[in-house]
Amino acid sequence: MQTPFYGHVRQYHNIKNEIDAKIQEVLESGQYVLGPMLKKFEGELSEYFGCKYAIGVGNGTDAIWLVLMALGIGPGDEVITHPNTFFATAEAVWITGAKVVFVDCDPKTKCIDPARIEAAITPKTKAIIPVHLYGQCADMPAIAEIAKKHNLRVVEDNAQAIDARGDTFRQGEFSDAVATSFIIQKNLGCFGDGGAVFTDNPEINETVRKLRNHGSPKRDHHSFGFNSRLDDLQAGVLSAKLKHISEWSDRRIAWANRYFEGLKGVKAITLPFVKTGYRHVFHLYVVETKDAEKRESLHKFLVDNGIDAKTHYSIAIHKQAGFPWGKEYAINGSVENAEYNAKACVSLPMFPELTAEEVDYSISKVLEWDKANS
Ligand SMILES: Cc1ncc(COP(=O)(O)O)c(C=O)c1O
Repeated sequence: MQTPFYGHVRQYHNIKNEIDAKIQEVLESGQYVLGPMLKKFEGELSEYFGCKYAIGVGNGTDAIWLVLMALGIGPGDEVITHPNTFFATAEAVWITGAKVVFVDCDPKTKCIDPARIEAAITPKTKAIIPVHLYGQCADMPAIAEIAKKHNLRVVEDNAQAIDARGDTFRQGEFSDAVATSFIIQKNLGCFGDGGAVFTDNPEINETVRKLRNHGSPKRDHHSFGFNSRLDDLQAGVLSAKLKHISEWSDRRIAWANRYFEGLKGVKAITLPFVKTGYRHVFHLYVVETKDAEKRESLHKFLVDNGIDAKTHYSIAIHKQAGFPWGKEYAINGSVENAEYNAKACVSLPMFPELTAEEVDYSISKVLEWDKANS
């Protein structure tokens, strides 16, 4: 049996009429950049997210660095994040000219460990970027407390966690802004690249809007800027999909629960950790082999059996060949949890349109490997 990792085409077929109608509407409008569909979608997005402003930008990486720039962060400044995330989180900091400072992740959630942050703060530290990794929110109240004490800005990277919530908090509540990605494989994905910034801060809203469009709110150029706009065709696709996001998250959670139930007896593998009361939206369902040396064996076994398992992220950012391109960085303390995660992680297929047969087949193969390796 073949089990894919992504379900974009299945998803398109399920809501083809809705998406095609939006695309048609944009095509007929003749306005494809900064047009009415983008404006409409930004309104829908801010309402859905529960924030004052949503700004569509070119991609999730730009969403992060545009916010950092709007906050005045640049050369000479330091920004704290963790190294077991997608490369773009760190890239976004380097693009501004600031220095990335890595601290370790929490061994269970894999999100930034708030207990490691204070030791990494220097007089140059300006911001913290918590990543809501795999679809679960970082401990935002703890992070916000540290930020408040040291007068730091907080930018949430929720590229993997749209529709996720904490136990007592929502995204955006404890930060200056939230940056997201709409690249196709994300939980809310367009048919190409896209991203957005969410904020309640009118200055961040105004500055990011200007920066994404050559420093120009309309025709005149108020500042230096860039070209990073979410185009209207992608906004139309996303507008059609946004209506389904809660239902899709619920399906992801249901598949995760099926994995948890089916795999509860495993001995050689650690299953994902969900914090009590959190809405973890399972962008990824990532297991770890207890013996990191055995990760390749599990991954290969699944792939050989037709399961398109992947590894997120098999090389921590500071160990990447392209790192750090002459850019400044620092690692504060040990990052052993992040490094272990990189060596031991295996992502099982996870998308709303999976079938019970596919999930059960993956479970059966993981159990088979676990039995042979326990
Ligand atoms: C955690 C994280 N941050 C940032 C990004 C960057 O988003 P994009 O690829 O849209 O630039 C991604 C995904 O690609 C991501 O997973």
